[in-house]
Amino acid sequence: MSNESLANLLKEERRFAPPADLAANANVTAEAYEQAKADRLGFWAEQARRLTWATEPTETLDWTNPPFAKWFKDGKLNVAYNCVDRHVEAGNGDRVAIHFEGEPGDSRAITYAELKDEVSRAANALTELGVQAGDRVAVYLPMIPEAVISMLACARIGAAHSVVFGGFSADAIAKRIEDADAKVVITSDGGYRRGKPSALKPAVDEALTRVSVEKVLVVQRTKQDVAWTEGRDLWWHETVGRQSAEHAPQAFDAEQPLFILYTSGTTGKPKGILHTSGGYLTQASYTHHAVFDLKPETDVYWCTADIGWVTGHSYITYGPLSNGATQVIYEGTPDTPHQGRISEIVQKYGVTILYTAPTLIRTFMKWGDEIPAKFDLSSLRVLGSVGEPINPEAWVWYRKHFGADKCPVVDTWWQTETGAIMISPLPGVTETKPGSAQRALPGISATVVDDEAAEVPNGGGGYLVLTEPWPSMLRTIWGDDQRFIDTYWSRFEGKYFAGDGAKKDEDGDIWLLGRVDDVMLVSGHNISTTEVESALVSHPAVAEAAVVGAADATTGQAIVAFVILRGSANADDESLVADLRNHVGTSLGPIAKPKRILPVAELPKTRSGKIMRRLLRDVAENRAVGDVTTLADSSVMDLIQAELPSAS
Ligand code: WT7
Repeated sequence: MSNESLANLLKEERRFAPPADLAANANVTAEAYEQAKADRLGFWAEQARRLTWATEPTETLDWTNPPFAKWFKDGKLNVAYNCVDRHVEAGNGDRVAIHFEGEPGDSRAITYAELKDEVSRAANALTELGVQAGDRVAVYLPMIPEAVISMLACARIGAAHSVVFGGFSADAIAKRIEDADAKVVITSDGGYRRGKPSALKPAVDEALTRVSVEKVLVVQRTKQDVAWTEGRDLWWHETVGRQSAEHAPQAFDAEQPLFILYTSGTTGKPKGILHTSGGYLTQASYTHHAVFDLKPETDVYWCTADIGWVTGHSYITYGPLSNGATQVIYEGTPDTPHQGRISEIVQKYGVTILYTAPTLIRTFMKWGDEIPAKFDLSSLRVLGSVGEPINPEAWVWYRKHFGADKCPVVDTWWQTETGAIMISPLPGVTETKPGSAQRALPGISATVVDDEAAEVPNGGGGYLVLTEPWPSMLRTIWGDDQRFIDTYWSRFEGKYFAGDGAKKDEDGDIWLLGRVDDVMLVSGHNISTTEVESALVSHPAVAEAAVVGAADATTGQAIVAFVILRGSANADDESLVADLRNHVGTSLGPIAKPKRILPVAELPKTRSGKIMRRLLRDVAENRAVGDVTTLADSSVMDLIQAELPSAS
């Protein structure tokens, strides 16, 4: 990306200081940056002491064979013990670990003491089914407590879990079972979604016509009819239910595989991202403590992600539970039975820390300000965002309508591969800037480089890289070390290439600009899709925008914007389109004015909420739309095409 990139034209001047009381009592202060800078490995060795080790590590990092890292390699611990038992031993067994809220409105509170019993029973059951340390277990469940219990049961016996998102197809399950060679699958009859039971087991049954496992453990959630394979299928409530609640956790090496989680990537077969135990848990725990300022005695934390994504792994299961948090787990969709469901749950449980995604925040904006206003959200004190760059306007809206204009918003940048948060404000330290993840956390080294790998000066744009290994880094791609090297460590010598475009502002703060594949080249200028989208979303009529570069005879690429209008705006209003173009022109510069602006009712998104610009590029270039199998709702593309004038 060149330095004349329009990346530098979007000026965001709003600044928000941390609330004084939060700053005064913050878990982490500015001193942590100094400490980590002076002695990075010493800093992480100290954070590792947050955990309870059976054998304390004496070596922090072995980086003798880069990019294959070993953290805390002579240490031994049990991850599940750290997430459950030690809180009970410390006298906090009666503290609620999980407030489960089912979509139909059923609820269940699970204390740490109860969680210990459940995890122990599940661990005993897996052992009875023949699962041993080092084996893999596939988990295909809805957002119910058994998902967390299954993950911890695997961890407890040293088996790696491979959670497959409950929205994925039989084909995706089969590929993941095969790649990881899973021995057992844990699934359920179904889960509740959009007001009705939605089956899960049939997809597993279909997957198992192509690949085989020894046993299928089935949680009964909806009581819908299921097909049954005798000898292979077992009910959770029978098999787990009859086990002893006693299970002695064995200590495993810090580098024992903890989980494999597949990321789709844009091309090729899914990558099985491998995470291990000691380093991963250290960083998941530290970042959850630092970024959310968690006070386990008083906070009620809620991460709205699904357990099928890394956010659910690190910030539902491992980070919060290692810290002894009380958290909410919600099964269903945000608009069932009404569009205020998320706010209602915040009110019901007195949620103090909310961690969600820009796609949901923009959806709330579209639904209208009056919905959160109907609920008491005054318990909230920290708001987090993850998954995509958050448009400044969505950031400000979130702070205002959920955070009473006082809660810090922490925009957390990280990836499945990084395992835990890498770049984020600290709520008691950072003066925040809407739309920027700002600064690498203490102990993390990130910067922005140009095509030649040279660090860009403040004000420059380029590629985000991580320049030092970190504890929760992926260890490899399961079964494919070469692909691990090629994908992440070959673009820039000795540095981890994240695949994201980024810029540094005048203060040296980092702004993420989206995946590098999404950058547009217009008349020789690199223009970030993220920035044009943010400019559009800053117009009062726009709730969401997706921008793509379409081949253009004169300018190389031309900017085409798909916009979802807010409640009252009229899609047939010609003058509105002109107004939006001018608005982008004034915010970013004339060259960033979209050539075409197309109002649509929906945007194509992956199941984790990321906009699939590739498909919109197909529409903008009048091509047949490509592979839609990873879309959350595959009918969206038909809808978009039906709505378009003629795409010329
Ligand atoms: C990609 C990683 C991290 C858990 C969920 C996604 C984008 C993520 C941010 C953010 C800008 C972000 C990046 C990254 N991304 N968080 N705060 N600001 N972009 O995990 O599916 O592995 O995706 O999500 O493009 O590379 P993932």
